[in-house]
Amino acid sequence: IDQPATLRPPTWWQRQSGRLLHLAQAGTPRYVYHLPTVRERAREIAGVAAIDRRFFALKANPHPRVLQALEAEGFGFECVSRGELEHLYRVLPSLAPDRVLFTPSFAPRGEYAAALDKGVFVTIDSATPLRQWPELFRGRDVVLRLDPGFGHGHHEKVRTGGKDAKFGLAAEALPEFLDAARAAGARIIGLHAHIGSGIHDARHWHTVYAQLASLAEGIGTVGFIDVGGGLGVAYDPEAEPFDVAAYAAALAEVKAAYPQYALWVEPGRYLVAECGVLLLGVTQVTRKQGLRRVGADGGMNALLRPALYNAWHEIVNLTRLDDPAGDACDVVGPICETGDVIGRQRRLPEATAEGDVLLVGHAGAYGAVMANRYNLRELPQEDVIDD
Ligand code: LLP
Repeated sequence: IDQPATLRPPTWWQRQSGRLLHLAQAGTPRYVYHLPTVRERAREIAGVAAIDRRFFALKANPHPRVLQALEAEGFGFECVSRGELEHLYRVLPSLAPDRVLFTPSFAPRGEYAAALDKGVFVTIDSATPLRQWPELFRGRDVVLRLDPGFGHGHHEKVRTGGKDAKFGLAAEALPEFLDAARAAGARIIGLHAHIGSGIHDARHWHTVYAQLASLAEGIGTVGFIDVGGGLGVAYDPEAEPFDVAAYAAALAEVKAAYPQYALWVEPGRYLVAECGVLLLGVTQVTRKQGLRRVGADGGMNALLRPALYNAWHEIVNLTRLDDPAGDACDVVGPICETGDVIGRQRRLPEATAEGDVLLVGHAGAYGAVMANRYNLRELPQEDVIDD
């Protein structure tokens, strides 16, 4: 069962390594996205029979070509800010508003007003917007985000349910919320929950749907239940990939118990993580008290995930793919912080040297979009490969 990575079929970037080295000549740090891989993941989700509507959480990767590819695969989009909404409509001007969810967190009044004007689905997760701005919501349809009371995910910072998380209405506050909605003249047409990001156990979505469905019965006006995104990704090539069949089975089972509601999902990472790589140029290799450090021209400025969540990403020397593994080294960036480490204990080839191109795998989700200009370094560039 534990097939060595070398026996697995080559990844898209292994097949395209020559092309990636060529692209790197135009400058690093550089993200490259492989659109056929986006479509492959999109079709897997499209094949899950229990799902009635699917939305891409565009915060994961708002590159225009990615959005266009997913729109063509039948996806709508989940946006969390006015900036994301405006970007989406610049890229896809004729997108129907019923293919767009607006799911902000603690957003200002003007953002709700703009989203309501556009006619997209607007989610609120407390009674406060209804009480503070009743005129905005009078006669409107809204979606209510609930906190199922638990969160899951790859790191505590991305778990979005439970008492410590700022998201979602606690179920016990529902009666009070319904009073506020009635007073404001707003109608609840859908329930929503997103418990976190990087989840591998499909039973959690089963629990969430069942919980929301039982609350929906008491509300009476609910037509759909959105169980959020959060589908995990195997960052380590030797780890088991996300089990789409188990996800499909869990959703099918719970949908059969409550068939009266449409089931909506909003994955981000799952659709785009694997399609993206980050190319970095080696700047300097040092050895300090026995530890080899391979320095790259992008670090926590180009890819924040390792510094922020201790996230693990595969790192290979693309220039010397066929060289044997060398002794363990740390791969570090150019930022003036001790936490600017992209990977520890990596077996890069002994000959790794200035000018080599490093490839950081599974960087298509929450990569370029979270890059920053700390130390006043330039933002990474982005390229797209399509068939
Ligand atoms: N829906 C809502 C309401 C969300 O807040 C999110 C992600 C998603 C869907 C999509 O979750 P996904 O399927 O991508 O897991 N920067 C972190 C991830 C933060 C996710 C925030 N919300 C990371 O790099 O791991």
